[in-house]
Amino acid sequence: MKRTGKLVCLILALVLVLSLCACSSGKTAQSSVKTVTSGKLTMATNAQFPPYEFYEGDKIVGIDAEIAGAIASKLGLELVIEDMEFDSIITAVKTGKVDIGMAGMTVTDERKESVDFTESYATGVQVIIVADGSEIVSVDDLFAEGANHVIGVQRNTTGDLYCTWDIEDEGLGTVDRYSKGADAVQALKAGKVDCVVIDNEPAKAFVAEVEGLKILETEYALEDYAGAMSKDNQELYSAVNDALKALIADGTVQKIVDKYINAK
Ligand code: ARG
Repeated sequence: MKRTGKLVCLILALVLVLSLCACSSGKTAQSSVKTVTSGKLTMATNAQFPPYEFYEGDKIVGIDAEIAGAIASKLGLELVIEDMEFDSIITAVKTGKVDIGMAGMTVTDERKESVDFTESYATGVQVIIVADGSEIVSVDDLFAEGANHVIGVQRNTTGDLYCTWDIEDEGLGTVDRYSKGADAVQALKAGKVDCVVIDNEPAKAFVAEVEGLKILETEYALEDYAGAMSKDNQELYSAVNDALKALIADGTVQKIVDKYINAK
């Protein structure tokens, strides 16, 4: 009888442990993370940047949208995308209006003062778009003494920042800032600017739409893209970053990039 008593105790203990396990696994660890809107991952972007983010009908699609969607579903959250000026994204993140900024955004030291960047998930190159037959044939032509070119950029992108520092502030030329990259490209087509400095993938997409333009072979700068997050919610930062790292490790991110870039 003593033996059976022990056995019953053991079985009861086992049942208790198993049911406790079942309880805690039913609720994923991440679903407890706090987001701007409970149950949702709110992402800020500027959907004027194919193939990273652009409109397909009234839906925002692209590499960033899909990676964010995969992160959200790993965390048991619903993705909500807010479209805004590129210029406003860091502020929206910093002031806690959104959970993450994903916009083909380059990691820079200046931005790191305002936000924390996730693991990088892609690289970008600042390239130069010119009209066929332009006298600008390499990056160096922009820095030449007396060159005095007018350079079109999307406001507050790294293309804007580099050209402002390297060229405008040095008195070597002027920078014309547009709210959309596509508008800068239209200005180039219309002869209002001499070239456009912008990220390589959107450059390809824009040039494909406008006749008589080309991308120079030379590169202005090489950069890393990452998500921008608030410094004030480290729990969410870790959850998102761990999810992103897992999606990079298991090939999901590469698959998404291939779908929009390499497969073409
Ligand atoms: N990579 C550049 C930057 O971080 C340009 C990004 C523009 N992105 C956009 N969605 N419009 O400044």
